[in-house]
Amino acid sequence: MRVLPSLDNAWLWIKDGKVEDYGGMESCPQLNIQTLDAEGKFVLPAWCDSHTHLVFAGSREGEFVDRINGLSYEEIAQRGGGILNSAARLRGMDEEELYEQSMARAAEVMSYGTGAVEIKSGYGLTKESEKKILRVVRRMKENSPLEIKATFLGAHAVPKEYKNNRKAYIDLIINEMLPGIAGEGLADYIDVFCEKVAFSVAETERIMEAGAKYGLKAKIHTNQFNCMGGIQAAVKHGALSVDHLEVLTDEEIDVLKSSDTIPCLLPSAPFFLNDHYPPARKILDAGLPVALATDFNPGSTPSGRMPFVLSLACIKMKMTPEEAITAATVNGAYAMEVHDKCGTISKGKLANIIITKKIPSIAYLMYAFGTDVVEQVYIKGERVK
Ligand code: NIG
Ligand code: FE
Repeated sequence: MRVLPSLDNAWLWIKDGKVEDYGGMESCPQLNIQTLDAEGKFVLPAWCDSHTHLVFAGSREGEFVDRINGLSYEEIAQRGGGILNSAARLRGMDEEELYEQSMARAAEVMSYGTGAVEIKSGYGLTKESEKKILRVVRRMKENSPLEIKATFLGAHAVPKEYKNNRKAYIDLIINEMLPGIAGEGLADYIDVFCEKVAFSVAETERIMEAGAKYGLKAKIHTNQFNCMGGIQAAVKHGALSVDHLEVLTDEEIDVLKSSDTIPCLLPSAPFFLNDHYPPARKILDAGLPVALATDFNPGSTPSGRMPFVLSLACIKMKMTPEEAITAATVNGAYAMEVHDKCGTISKGKLANIIITKKIPSIAYLMYAFGTDVVEQVYIKGERVK
């Protein structure tokens, strides 16, 4: 991850939305096509943001103020705020409005350089409203240039109606929601929030098993606040990724080393919640890869800005700029299985490209954390910024 394959003084040829070829200037083909001079700038693959909840309704800045005044994220959740607050708003929002809000967020993240994104449900928590989110994601797949993957996260929180009968809610997920959603091809993956305020390890395993029957691989929220065995369970069930990992034991690192499950770190969540950061250095020094993603959602990370995630990775988690870029591009692509078309500038892959402003070195991108260094963004060969 520390080595970024790169070319100085190079040309890049984009054709039909894909990378046709590239090379050093000494071999630049003479073609009668539109050209663009990027002298002094850096050309990078667009970000692959493998963990977001960007289909949500409204905002939760009231809870932001509650936290300033001393409540914790978990206390707010226990009082029926948090995810349930967002679920109430989303249930009441018409599908068209939800689509418009979500497409606006998609346009925003593209302007930060994101070219591929995973989007989770989980703010509906009823059969109909979970489907509503995933139908919005399907429309986004059709109408946004972004490469998009959809994840069913019915197990994000136990809704109020099931407070005293959580088993009935899990049965609903497995027997009612999943068959409809999988049957209509509305999800690529299944997710569970494995945490004390959400779902236990045994519940997580039941839901992963049910998803697997429909061919849905798991991407699991775990180890955000507690080490409870979520990583061991996810690895046992062949999860594609385990996400958050703000808390992590040595034993869990060993378990990950024996798997193909990729750790996905979301440093803007602990930034916003004023919590501690995942031990990225320890994970990387153990020889494991990591992906970096935003976690864009209204509760713990109201931001889809990948360059800020990369700055946090360097500043707070001591990742090198090269490691951060690898984590936010090719590793993110792996964490949502789009690595055959995104994540690197390679012949035949999508022309999802960032061109920076004139900057002195690649480290400047993370160093100048408040400056918008991303000057131009191309997705599938079309300029979006
Ligand atoms: O990834 N941890 C669970 N889900 C989201 C936050 C959800 C919310 O607070 O609305 C996350 O941080
Ligand atoms: Fe999340």
